[in-house]
Formats: sequence, structure tokens, C-alpha cells
Amino acid sequence: MTAATFPSVTPWVIAATSVIACSVFTFYSKTPEGNAPKDNLPDLPSFVSSDGKLSAEASCTPTAEGGKVVLVTGTGGFIGYHAALALRARGDAVLGLDNFNLYYPTKLKRDRAAELEANKILTVEADLNNMPALRKAMEVCRFTHVLHLAAQAGVRYATKDPHSYVSSNVAAFVALLEVCKEQKPVPRVVYASSSSVYGLNTKVPFSEADRVDRPASLYAATKKADEMIAHTYNHVYHIALTGLRFFTVYGPHGRPDMAAFAFAKKISQGEQVRIFQGPGGTELERDFTYIDDIVGGCLGALDKIGESQKPAPYKLYNLGNRNPVNVSYFVDLLEEFMGKPAKRHYMPLPATGDVLRTHADVSLATTELGYNPTTSLRDGMKKFVDWYKEYYKNGMDKEMAEYQPM
Ligand SMILES: NC(=O)c1ccc[n+]([C@@H]2O[C@H](COP(=O)([O-])OP(=O)(O)OC[C@H]3O[C@@H](n4cnc5c(N)ncnc54)[C@H](O)[C@@H]3O)[C@@H](O)[C@H]2O)c1
Repeated sequence: MTAATFPSVTPWVIAATSVIACSVFTFYSKTPEGNAPKDNLPDLPSFVSSDGKLSAEASCTPTAEGGKVVLVTGTGGFIGYHAALALRARGDAVLGLDNFNLYYPTKLKRDRAAELEANKILTVEADLNNMPALRKAMEVCRFTHVLHLAAQAGVRYATKDPHSYVSSNVAAFVALLEVCKEQKPVPRVVYASSSSVYGLNTKVPFSEADRVDRPASLYAATKKADEMIAHTYNHVYHIALTGLRFFTVYGPHGRPDMAAFAFAKKISQGEQVRIFQGPGGTELERDFTYIDDIVGGCLGALDKIGESQKPAPYKLYNLGNRNPVNVSYFVDLLEEFMGKPAKRHYMPLPATGDVLRTHADVSLATTELGYNPTTSLRDGMKKFVDWYKEYYKNGMDKEMAEYQPM
């Protein structure tokens, strides 16, 4: 080959090499499951606490005879944290799983996980789309039940990062059920849905018998998708599946993007509290439900769910408080317990997916799960504010102080 032929060969070689290199890269950047998002690496996470003192095996050992062994997803989160503690307290074993995503400041999630660890509950740090990690967890713990609470939460954030809802609420649920269906015996699965599935419905109270096919947000659409995915896995693979439609949950260790925390922070910082209004200046109403009541419903669902074998049960329940209140009353209570007035700024509801009113009919959960919400908004808000003051008694960390929920 002469030097003169190089210029014509080189581009061809470079192009061919690039194609092969790209193919090789694409092949190896896929997880063993195929086309899962590249970010969800299949690497195995650690199954022991960072100080080496708590193993997954110890976390998965019940303290009560006949205790359940439960995978709780989303233990870095608000409801997962409380549910895991309650299960452990009654003698069940819990392994937690959370990817500690950055949707809101992670110190809150890390603090919850640390407190769980002190109570012999390990949180494995993994994304639910990491199926090898899920398989390993199932192999180590032989779960009898799964309480699936991990999700990309929040209604308004879907306008900013829609794909996170598809990844964490749809793809992740399929990954979890795929791994569940491989187990012998197959664990029974209770999962979080949401009152948001009632979308644009106006008939109140919302009942499980109502049609829910008019979601008002992508978040709601993914939660409705979860209910249909659950139906499919129940029908095809006979997995026992119970969905819980939570109605605006509040309480200690709550989420900073939700009203109780966000308003408390604004009041303590002397900033304006934005209160959204519906058409004609009407007040929004929410069926605010205290965390302990929700946890009672989760435990009831785990206790009452049938076996994962044909004909496996498929159930859906509302878990609310039966007692909607308007947001101004909610702020009145916060002012009283914070001991400081709120600077109220009433403004029209932005068109980002919030609904005007939520009101739960909980009769089905009461009859079938023994669900009985007993905490008044007044008592619950007092407990929330007591926690908030104690948690931030030495001031707020910079990340949280600067955090602005959408
Ligand atoms: N809090 C409420 O008022 C409310 C109302 C209706 C429904 N829900 C549902 O209840 C469940 C719990 O909500 P919450 O308020 O505790 O929310 P949260 O955001 O505090 O907790 C969810 C946790 O899941 C984790 N997570 C998200 N995606 C993940 C993934 N792909 N892999 C692993 N972990 C992941 C997050 O890091 C977070 O710690 C969610 O399914 C939510 O949609 C909550």
C-alpha cells in the first residue's frame, strides 16, 4: 500500500471501527435485562451497613415467632420509614431499599435510614430497576411480603422531569414484579397508588368503584398505570396484589415538597405562603391523613392479603381520613402551633395537575382491612409541628434552607 492510498482507506477504517466500538459499547452498557436505562447500572450494592454492624440477614430475621419478612421499598422516604419502623416494632423483619434520589434534600432521607438502622432495619442503596440487586435481596431474605412505596412522588415536578416518573413508577414496578414472579413461593405485594388517580372526577367522596380514567397529571397517570400493571401480573402470574390509594399524608419526618413542611418552613422563615385557589377564588380541599393512620392501613393490607397462588387476590383500597378541610384551615393550625402568623398569598391554581378537592370513601378498607383513621387534623398537626421544631432546633442545613419545591 502506498502512502497515497492512506487518505482514502483511513476514513473507511475509522468509520468501521466506530460502528463496532459503538455496538460493543451499546452491548455492554445494557443491563442483563436488555434495554433498561443506562443509568441503572446492574452493579450489586452493599448488603451490609456502612459501619459493618448490620447485615441484610440480620435485618431479615423476625423477632416475633411467625413474623413476616418484608421488603419495604422507599425506606429513605416518608411513608416507607414509618411503615418499616412499625413492622419492626411488632416483630416482623424488614429489609429496606431506596436509591436516595435527589428529588428533595437527601439529608432527610439519610437521617431516616440511619434511624432505621438503629432499629435493625438495613436500607440497601439501589435503584429498583437494578434487577440483579433485587434478585440478590430476594435470595438473601426470602421475603414473604413486599410493601412497595418507592416512587417518584409529587404532581408538579412531572412538568420538569417527566421521565423520572416513567423510570421509577412504571419501569421499576415492572422490574419488581418480574423478580417477584421468579420466587418460590412468590411474595405477596402491597403497593402505593394515590388519590390522584381520581383526577378530574367531581363526584365525592371518591370510591374505589368510580371510573378512574381522567388523570390530571403524569404522576397520576403512572399511578393508574401501576394499578393496571398490578392487574396484569395478578392475572397472568397469580401474584397477590393490593393497591393503596393514599390521600395527602402528613406527619413527622414528612416530605418537604408537601404543604405541612413547606408551609411550616415559609412561616418560620417569614416568607410568603402560596395558597392556591380554584375557579372564582374557591378554596382547595384535601383529605389530609395522618401518617400513623396510613401505616395502620399498610399493616392491615399486609395482614389481610391472600396468597400468591391461583386465584390470587387483586384489591384496591382508599386510605384517607374521610374529612376534607380547606387549605386555609390547615394554615390556621400551623400558625397556632408554630406561634407565628403566616404571610398568606392567595393565587390561582397553576395548570400543573393538582385537583380541586380530594375526599375519600374508606368504607371498603374499614370493612376488609380494619382501617380506622382516628387522628384529627388538629392533633396530627400538633405532632408534626412538635417534630419540626425539635428536628430543626439547631437550625436548618443549607441544602434544606435553600430548597424550593415546585
Ligand atoms: N405522601 C403522600 O401524601 C402520598 C400520597 C399518595 C401516594 N403516595 C405514594 O406513597 C409512596 C411513598 O410516598 P412518600 O410520601 O413516602 O414519598 P418519598 O418521596 O418520601 O419516598 C419515596 C422514596 O422512594 C425512593 N425512590 C424513588 N424512586 C426510586 C427507585 N427507582 N428506586 C429506589 N428507590 C426509589 C426515593 O428516594 C424516596 O426516598 C409513593 O409511592 C407515593 O407515590 C404518597
